[in-house]
Amino acid sequence: MAVETLPALDARKLRADFPIFEQQFHGKPLAFLDSAASSQKPRQMLDAMRDFYETSYANVHRGVYQLAERATEGLEAAREKVRALVNAPSTREVIFVRNATEALNLVAYAWGLNRLGPGDLVVVTELEHHSNFVPWQYVAKRTGAGFRMIPLDEQGELRLDALEEVAREGNVKVVATGVVSNSLGTVNPVERLTAWAHEQGAIMVADAAQAAPHRTVDVQALGCDFVAISAHKMCGPSGVGALWGRAELLQEMEPFLLGGHMIRAVKADVTTWGELPHKFEAGTAPMAEAVGFGAAIDYLTVVGFDAIEQHEHDLVAYALDRLAELPWVTTYGPPPERRAGIVSFNVDGVHPHDVAQIVDLDAVAIRAGHHCCQPLMTKLGVAATNRASFYLYTVPEEIDRLVAGLHRAKQILG
Ligand SMILES: Cc1ncc(COP(=O)(O)O)c(C=O)c1O
Repeated sequence: MAVETLPALDARKLRADFPIFEQQFHGKPLAFLDSAASSQKPRQMLDAMRDFYETSYANVHRGVYQLAERATEGLEAAREKVRALVNAPSTREVIFVRNATEALNLVAYAWGLNRLGPGDLVVVTELEHHSNFVPWQYVAKRTGAGFRMIPLDEQGELRLDALEEVAREGNVKVVATGVVSNSLGTVNPVERLTAWAHEQGAIMVADAAQAAPHRTVDVQALGCDFVAISAHKMCGPSGVGALWGRAELLQEMEPFLLGGHMIRAVKADVTTWGELPHKFEAGTAPMAEAVGFGAAIDYLTVVGFDAIEQHEHDLVAYALDRLAELPWVTTYGPPPERRAGIVSFNVDGVHPHDVAQIVDLDAVAIRAGHHCCQPLMTKLGVAATNRASFYLYTVPEEIDRLVAGLHRAKQILG
């Protein structure tokens, strides 16, 4: 029987597609280890946006002239690419938004405000990004519903043994969780949580902002009800993201933003809403951004999500090994086989911001802060961490340069 091998990814070759790597910072080549915050952009995506502006630009959906039709085709082709990316049953279920945060607010407001009340429970996790935490906490408060977190164990993984206890505290109506933690890289058991949510009669909201750039996200396989993604973390432009939602839920929901394009008919006393997905797309769409998003999806698809996932797995295993050589570095989160390409750590006695500034002198870009996960920081007992995050263009030498920079930080400030 043939042994199946994953297609390898040639990060060195791919780097040539990213103009940012042609520059030097502090006189050195850039080691960009902050892709979890936002990714760098390949020429193919930049060219697609430029081409759209140069050859196909007009406002979409409204014009009958040829150019407007071409612009509309561009936007709708991008919607089809997002649909295929997440294996959604229909493009009607794909809504363009500004980013994952807006997608999650849309669900919290448009689904939650009218359906939650006293006795109900919204369940998030202790490692949630604020974008999938704060909107739910707010809507729970507004409606009188309860709000609970699924706790973490010592490795930064969800304690599924706590679910029963959580369920005793109210009627679970919403379970909202990230697929991959932006802070610890933990890969959450979304399929199991979805099954549990549905057993409770709850909807399952999956924040795939950190998953969609790096691995296959299949909404039908996950079985969830809503999925949020941001283009800028996956080689696309800023200013556009997507919400996928089940048509039957989207149809029942009230709109989120109101105004042009999302209506069917407007009269002095009453307005009716347009069809999906337009009901949730008020105002002029992020047209060129959506086209760029589509081109980014094409780019990642050609590289291959399995190859990207494997590459990042190898990098994170290497990074954890290298950091384990430093007894004065504490790393957080699960072992490499259950984590994506993200490592959070602290250097004993040195503030994360100082660490990030010192390694920047060697053009190593890492993040320092709470990573929009303050409840997680509370759990870890720290105010902040450093975070290195990897992508398809990351090479192991960049991790070596980070380790060298950490030695420098320790020497100077430790
Ligand atoms: C897990 C996760 N969810 C949501 C977001 C929010 O994404 P955006 O800022 O693009 O809305 C981020 C961004 O860092 C994230 O990492």
